[in-house]
Amino acid sequence: MRLGDCYNTRDFRAFARRRLPGPVFHYIDGAADDEVTYRRNTEAFERCDLVPNVLAGVADVDLSTEVMGQKLDMPFFLAPTAMQRMFHHEGERAVGAAAEKFGTMFGVSSLGTVSIEEIGSTIATPKLFQLYVHKDKALNFSLLDRCKAADFGVLALTVDTIVGGNRERDLRTGFTTPLKLSPRSLMSFLRHPRWAFNYLTHERFELASLKDHVAEGTSVAVSVADYFNRLMDQSLDWDTAAEIAEYWDGPFVLKGVMSVADARRAVEIGATAIMVSNHGGRQLDGSRAPFDQLAEMVDAVGDQVEVICDGGIRRGTHILKALSLGAKACSGGRSYLYALAAAGQAGVERALGLIQEELVRDMKLMGCRTVRDLSRQNLRFR
Ligand code: FNR
Ligand code: LAC
Repeated sequence: MRLGDCYNTRDFRAFARRRLPGPVFHYIDGAADDEVTYRRNTEAFERCDLVPNVLAGVADVDLSTEVMGQKLDMPFFLAPTAMQRMFHHEGERAVGAAAEKFGTMFGVSSLGTVSIEEIGSTIATPKLFQLYVHKDKALNFSLLDRCKAADFGVLALTVDTIVGGNRERDLRTGFTTPLKLSPRSLMSFLRHPRWAFNYLTHERFELASLKDHVAEGTSVAVSVADYFNRLMDQSLDWDTAAEIAEYWDGPFVLKGVMSVADARRAVEIGATAIMVSNHGGRQLDGSRAPFDQLAEMVDAVGDQVEVICDGGIRRGTHILKALSLGAKACSGGRSYLYALAAAGQAGVERALGLIQEELVRDMKLMGCRTVRDLSRQNLRFR
């Protein structure tokens, strides 16, 4: 399989599956419990249809938008995801460079593998830092200081990961960060020699922004669930969220808000945006798909806060449907992670290039010249 054979997320997924040892592939690909929510996140887009307009003079299409004070060349940005150097040795360096090439926002996880400082000094595109609130309060605020110094434009506080989700694929494979060598995982690494060579011959895996505070994840191997259950602050509440927003004093987004009541509270604490998200189905299985919940959220708070649709997006038309319902932009993880695993920076660039091409083509077919031309008039639910 070659990169040139990848035309969509499914193709990148198949490629990633060949390249990665099983435990690593299943960490990316897997979700919680029966993975019902994970599947629904994408299926939700199939329950409504686009109604195009024609003869609209669409020679020039402008995909640009402004979200959370950041000017983006397209209405899709890269959701923050953990541990990227485990998926491909270029890790965040590849993802950030590709985001920059396509003029979109680069989401950086607290559990990233390239430091905040390096990303700040090498990646010029708008950057979002995703905060996981640890029990160690000093750590939380020091991360915010470092992000300010490194010119991150947006802070995202993830609120749907107060405990680890029940990801049964990870339990079966014994996935840990860093990876632990067992007879079984060793076999899997040997069967993927190119990945193993790159993993072993590049700088040692670490949670670059946390390693000076937390041994788990860098020098002590733990499962993702154990990491969350042991280190996250489960007493996190609205007062703390408000305190963090105030300390950050810039564009602030709550990631993982699903109810209207919470969306209203997000407005009250001064959030710039909310990401309607269930963490890609990795946390509460049985929770609603972001796209299914979107209209309710936009109707309730859309005039006070920007609403982002996060998760399940595999096609340009999914983005057009979410924008038609009133989302300001969309974001996603696996759509670029499979591509990263498949081919590093070239892979992520191809994935983003395909999304961009789909968006331009589909906007033309919809008779829309700018993303503002999309509205609920363009949608019908079955
Ligand atoms: C994630 N996601 C995530 N979210 C977050 O706030 N902090 C994180 O560190 C991570 N890490 C992470 C790792 C992997 C491998 C995946 C697949 C996802 C969730 C991510 O930001 C986003 O919400 C989902 O990926 C959206 O769903 P799709 O686009 O993957 O369907
Ligand atoms: C995940 C965490 C790290 O989804 O957010 O795996």
